[in-house]
Amino acid sequence: MKTALVRNNSAVVGAAMNTKSSLPASSDESPVSLDAGVGVFEARQLTKTYHMGEVDVSALRGIDLDLFEGEFSVLLGPSGSGKSTLLNILGGLDIPSSGTIRFQDKYLTDYTDDQLTQYRRQHVGFVFQFYNLIPSLTASENVALVTEISTNPMKPREALEMVGLSHRLDHFPSQMSGGEQQRVAIARAIAKRPDVLLCDEPTGALDFETGVLVLEVIERINQELGTTTAVITHNAGISAMADRVISIADGRIAHLHVNETKSRPRDLSW
Ligand SMILES: Nc1ncnc2c1ncn2[C@@H]1O[C@H](COP(=O)(O)OP(=O)(O)OP(=O)(O)O)[C@@H](O)[C@H]1O
Ligand SMILES: [Mg+2]
Repeated sequence: MKTALVRNNSAVVGAAMNTKSSLPASSDESPVSLDAGVGVFEARQLTKTYHMGEVDVSALRGIDLDLFEGEFSVLLGPSGSGKSTLLNILGGLDIPSSGTIRFQDKYLTDYTDDQLTQYRRQHVGFVFQFYNLIPSLTASENVALVTEISTNPMKPREALEMVGLSHRLDHFPSQMSGGEQQRVAIARAIAKRPDVLLCDEPTGALDFETGVLVLEVIERINQELGTTTAVITHNAGISAMADRVISIADGRIAHLHVNETKSRPRDLSW
């Protein structure tokens, strides 16, 4: 397997983002060669077993997966298939029972708890289904919570402008719609300029129109900041906006598919 990577090279990043043919073709073979693009994540033989009293739950049963720099991937699969478990492990919120994950040139699976905390803080933006904003803080203050502990953050106003909320800086979560709250959550996730944006059902609590607005914001972040983006969804319709669709079933990768052409969020239906 080839592991030579070119990092922080914007030309290569651009190529990986914009040249669809540079991404791995639809394949039943996994892992995919890193020649296909600049590898950000390389997961090998990941398993996760939760021990519930006397019962073992196998959430992941041997995942081999590469994610590429600047790529927009959708993780699709039925409830309980292991999508959140996989995303949480990639984001350093959880650890696998076995297997390895390389992020850039380091192995997350070798990290101590403190190193994982630093990894999350510096490199990962998370967006969840239910926003997780702090109710007693304004939009701007919610974003500032993250920017205050980051090394090269945007200003909260700048992050909120990117998600189209410059007119809601001083609103509390209870004074905003669900879609606005989710866009604050996205602003909070991207304000640290993360390398990766991991979204777990970001439109799961939203109506279709609002969901489209949120997906447009995520697409814009991916394109303008070049942030490697992975979005979990149940909705097969959303997969048409991805560079690559990763289908998960029963803790395994069931299928990988590259979209030759991507749909705009506004043209999706679900
Ligand atoms: N903390 C945990 N403790 C025990 N079992 C867990 C835990 N987290 C997940 N599981 C189990 O692992 C399996 C995969 O869960 P996971 O949350 O990854 O699925 P999912 O694909 O995200 O599902 P959904 O679409 O419903 O969110 C499920 O059977 C779930 O019950
Ligand atoms: Mg889930």
